[in-house]
Order: sequence, then structure tokens, then C-alpha cells
Amino acid sequence: MKLTATPGVPVKGEADIPGDKSCSHRALILAAMAEGQTRVRGLLESDDVLATGKAIQAFGVSVERDGDDWLIRAGPWRSHCAIDCGNSGTAARLLMGAVAGRPGTRVMFSGDPSLSARPMGRVTLPLARMGATVQGGDRLPLTIQGADLGGIEHRNVPASAQVKSAILLAGLGTAAPVSVVEPVPSRDHSEIMLAQFGVEVAVADEPDGWVVSLGRQRSLNGCDLRIAADPSSAAFPLVAAAIAPGSDVLVRGLLVNPLRTGLYEVLEAMGADIGVSNEHIQSGEIVADVRVRHGALRPCHVRAEQVPAMIDEILALAVACAFADGESLIEGLGELRVKESDRLGAIVAGLAACGVSAVADGDSLRIFGRENVRGGASIATQGDHRVAMAFLTLGLAAEQPVEVDEAEMIATSFPGFTEIMRGLGADIR
Ligand code: S3P
Repeated sequence: MKLTATPGVPVKGEADIPGDKSCSHRALILAAMAEGQTRVRGLLESDDVLATGKAIQAFGVSVERDGDDWLIRAGPWRSHCAIDCGNSGTAARLLMGAVAGRPGTRVMFSGDPSLSARPMGRVTLPLARMGATVQGGDRLPLTIQGADLGGIEHRNVPASAQVKSAILLAGLGTAAPVSVVEPVPSRDHSEIMLAQFGVEVAVADEPDGWVVSLGRQRSLNGCDLRIAADPSSAAFPLVAAAIAPGSDVLVRGLLVNPLRTGLYEVLEAMGADIGVSNEHIQSGEIVADVRVRHGALRPCHVRAEQVPAMIDEILALAVACAFADGESLIEGLGELRVKESDRLGAIVAGLAACGVSAVADGDSLRIFGRENVRGGASIATQGDHRVAMAFLTLGLAAEQPVEVDEAEMIATSFPGFTEIMRGLGADIR
């Protein structure tokens, strides 16, 4: 299915953004490792998260819907099974960690062609160093056999929350010292959620970086969780509001963990009109209502160490930069080459097709933004959900409509994207 975004109308109103993808995966996985029952409200029901749900069911865990909530009841895991992680890097990498620390459990991991092209050695090498048996190379399919693990002190460079989380989850099965050192911090949802399940996790600011370590208490007790709206999904309607004249969009209950809000900080520095209210804590995470109104944007300069806090929002940021008159520079984007698609290549090609010049030079991206963006292109998404949403967003404020060649995979992360954007007045068909 193709979709076309036609410009000309502002986006206005309240967008009901579904739950955060990272937190949703973690809620299911930690619940599967816990004693007793976990109740989750606001779980993202996207293809990626459902892949994690099916995987833990294959382990023998009960996962069922109860009205608006999901109930997860763990029991003993099956000793052998095969799981298909679909398109989800988070499912594959976090579940590898969870399996690695369970002696007697052996799981074969596979995924779709995009996931099967993504590097897994960043997770399997530290897990093997801890003592897990890994059969296979740097790519799926591969098999992990859990063991009585030893400890590890892992230096997490480049900053990856998936790698950190896999090591922490593996470490739950051992009493040995387990720590991850992060010169640049990655998202800390695993640490925050582990604490909700009763696990001791310490974070210390040391000369080498942030040191995240597991304490003595490593068993999990089921709990009640409420998941906040996903800032990576909200990025699209909120960037649409920043670039389409006359727009004004509000997202309530947005996850505003500082390790996820990089895009919003940069947008504000670019001159976007952003209002934050009703900040509060929900299941250990900071949540707030965020309102964005259209305003003239200036170009930005994003340094490499700022990128982990907006790694999934670079496409949305690139769209904002296209409308900021002048040269924007975003550094440290090497990881974008190994996401669901080569996103750096996708940005450059897509912007060029829409009449905006952009250059990828090593890990850096320069975008030569302009007040009036032509649009009028058909974008090859390479099956990447965020590429599709980014260029549909651009189309809402360009001079001519923008089409994307494929749109079903938007359900990977943001089911309801089209309906929500239409609800704000956007012309997407
Ligand atoms: C995620 C971490 C990030 C991010 C991904 C989700 C997570 O990946 O891009 O979409 O939930 O831990 P890396 O850890 O590989 O940077």
C-alpha cells in the first residue's frame, strides 16, 4: 500500500500516542522473568512488541489481554524453543540476554530479512564472555544456550541500550559482579523498570563514565506498570506541528526521560515553540504533556554525544532541518547505517528527491534547509517504518505532495499513525 501526504492544512489538536516501544518490550520481558503476575497498562500493540509477546509465550509464559491491560504470568520456561523476532532488534537482543542467564534453556533466534542483516555480535560476544554458549555468527539465525554465568564489566561503546540491557538481563541469573560502563549514557529504561520489579541497580558517575551495576537483590517480583506515550512516535506529529504553518499539537502523558528527549531539546533550540506541563512520575519514568506550535526554524548543530538521546528521532529531526533555512550539521550518526534500514542513506536520498540537498560525510550529515521545500517525490522506504513516517510528515509542509512506496510496516512501531495524523487534520491517503 502506498500513502500520499498532501500539504496545505495545519495539524491541530490532541494526538493520542500509543505506548513507548522500548518500555513495552521491557515490560513483557521482565514480567516473563518475574515471580507472580504483572499487569501492564498502555502496552504498545505494535508488530515489534507483539513479536516479543509471542516469543515469551513460546518460552511458556502466559500473556493475555484483560480489558485495556495485559496480564503476564511467568512459570518455568521451556528448555528448548525457536522464536521469530520479526523486525525487532530490541526483541532479539534483549531476549538473548534473558536466555543467556538461564542454565538449561536453549533458544533459536530468527528474524525477517532486515533484522537478519543487523549485527548481533555486539550482544553475543559479551554474553559468550559471561559464559553463555552461542552458536552462529554475527547475524541471525543463531542459538543461545543459557549457563551459570560469570561476571563482566562491559564498556558500552558505541552507546547501545540494547547491549546494556542484554548484559543486565543475563546478569540477573548470577551473583557475580555485573556492570556496564557508559562514557555516553544510553536510554535507562531497563534500569528504571528493573527497580519497579524489585531488582537493585546502582548507577555511579565515575571518571570513565556512568557505571551501571546490578546489586545483590536480583530476583524479580511481578508488579503493576503503566507505560507512557512513545516520544519516538510523537516525534512525527510534533515535527509536523513545528513545520506546517498554523499548527498546534498536544501530546498528553509523553515519556520525557532525559535520555529520550534529545529531539525536543534541539527543536526548541531551533526556535520551535514547545510547552511542557503536568510533569510527574509514572512507573519510575518522567512523563509530561508536550505542546508544539509552528514557528520559524533555525538550522542546528548536533554533536555526537547528543545523538543517543535521539537515535530513533534523527529522521524526524532531518525533516525539521529541511525546513530550517541554512546548513544544519548532525554528527555521530554511524549507528544509523545498521538500523531497520541504512537510515543515513535513506535521509540523503529522500531529501534530495524532495528538492533539499543533504550530504552524508562519514558519520556526519549536513542538510541545506530552505523555507520552501518542494516535495513532489515518491520515496523508497526500504521497508523502514520511520522512513515512511518521516517523509509523510515532510509532505504535510512541502509545496507538493509526497508519496511513500510502502506503508503497512508503519505498524512495526506506530499502529494508528495515519488515523492519528488525519485526526489532526493532515491529508494522508
Ligand atoms: C532501543 C535502543 C536503541 C534504539 C532502538 C530501541 C532499546 O538501539 O535505536 O530502537 O529499546 O533499547 P541501540 O541500543 O542499538 O542503540
